[in-house]
Amino acid sequence: MKGFLASDEVRFLRGFLSNPLRVAAPVPSGRKLARTVAAQIDAEPGGYVVELGPGTGAITAAILEQGVAPQNLIAIETDADFARRLRSRFANIHILEGDAFSFRRLIAPVVGNTLLRTVVSGIPVLNRPKEVTQPLLADAIAALEPGAPFVQFSYGAEPPIAPIPGVEVSRVATVWQNLPPMHIWVYRGRHG
Ligand SMILES: C[S@@+](CC[C@H](N)C(=O)[O-])C[C@H]1O[C@@H](n2cnc3c(N)ncnc32)[C@H](O)[C@@H]1O
Repeated sequence: MKGFLASDEVRFLRGFLSNPLRVAAPVPSGRKLARTVAAQIDAEPGGYVVELGPGTGAITAAILEQGVAPQNLIAIETDADFARRLRSRFANIHILEGDAFSFRRLIAPVVGNTLLRTVVSGIPVLNRPKEVTQPLLADAIAALEPGAPFVQFSYGAEPPIAPIPGVEVSRVATVWQNLPPMHIWVYRGRHG
């Protein structure tokens, strides 16, 4: 188990050094952060969960431990080496190699018109302009069941994506012992 983790850490650090803006952290998320993020998944069982930027799978594993069926989990990763690692680590989830900002187009062949249970995002957004991040948020809210969560973790102390009309955001947890410490933000469309 130790050697397994070490090799993921080496792989992650290599990814970070080759593209620091895209990978954004030198080590994968720790267990506490992963569990706290996964705990935000909508409690209603069934339905698809989409993970943006799974890296080597720290959050992915916690999502599965939360009880999401592997065939209902879709992970979208842009880095080919991470995607290969995910395929060897998780047999039955959907792993799509591509750009999370185009996630709706990527997931369409899997989900069709079905609305999503939760979107979990670990992609870096603080270094992207709001002209890029707000459409991602709007797409996620449109793809989700009414009121279902879009979960974004980020080291910034302000909402990492500026809220858009009809969407509320709250910080649901801060995991100080993570490296770096992370805030977990949940966005939901107002409905009803
Ligand atoms: C901060 S790391 C988080 C990795 C993992 N979720 C974790 O918590 O350990 C960001 C991840 O997002 C991926 N990523 C960055 N931009 C992306 C994009 N536009 N589309 C898909 N994945 C992206 C990176 O390759 C990296 O795996």
